[in-house]
Amino acid sequence: MTTREFIAMKERGEPIAVLTAYDYLMAGLVEDAGVDCVLVGDSLGQVVAGEDSTLPVTLDQMIYHAKAVRRGLKRALLVVDMPFLTYQVSVEEAIRNCGRVLQETGAQAVKLEGGHQEMARTIRRLVDTGIPVMGHLGLTPQSVHRLGGYRLVGKLEDERERLLADADRLVEAGCFSMVLEMLPMALAGAVTRKVPVPTIGIGAGPECDGQVLVLPDMLGLNEGFRPGFLKRYAELATEVRQAVAAYVREVKEGSYPGPEHSYE
Ligand code: KIV
Repeated sequence: MTTREFIAMKERGEPIAVLTAYDYLMAGLVEDAGVDCVLVGDSLGQVVAGEDSTLPVTLDQMIYHAKAVRRGLKRALLVVDMPFLTYQVSVEEAIRNCGRVLQETGAQAVKLEGGHQEMARTIRRLVDTGIPVMGHLGLTPQSVHRLGGYRLVGKLEDERERLLADADRLVEAGCFSMVLEMLPMALAGAVTRKVPVPTIGIGAGPECDGQVLVLPDMLGLNEGFRPGFLKRYAELATEVRQAVAAYVREVKEGSYPGPEHSYE
């Protein structure tokens, strides 16, 4: 999978399936199951490290997880989130940090949040340097404090106009794709029809060119997280508890390990 193929999928009207992953085993499983793209999201701050936002995530943490995911993939496009303050301070720092991610992890692209003019300038320079960029508009979790919480974006006319302008800017800057997070579905549909690159929705309705979910959320491992857009495709937290309880019971009663699990 390449960034060019991503755009070709939009042109063919073929929906794009994206999931996050943070380790080698899960990356292999989601690829076996057919995803087109794996995102090493900075959501790992919450779902791996137990933080309450993505803000504490570091570049070294992203690189560590992205290397593990890379080893689990053969075909899917690998995109890595750039964490807070690794691309906002200056264009030079952005090129160095994004370049480091591509160089050290084998990822094919990075994802950056925001579409204002400064960000578009940074993205243009990254793309010119040979670093493919996926944009991210709508609810941008690294700006949670400015947004005033994790909420739907684009209900007000000024937010809506800003979002459409940002989407145009991301295209002009050279983004090969963009995530649209927590937008009213009509607005996500309008962006999707307007831009020539694939939109990947999360909480943005069915009109996007593709969808992304956070893997532990859709597998039912992150039990407390129940936003309206989320569909759980499994209840793994329940299964993990049942399996571990069975193991504890068998160890305590002495039935595991039996002869079949022992060596002569
Ligand atoms: O960090 C992340 O997992 C993301 C997705 C929710 C798009 O940015």
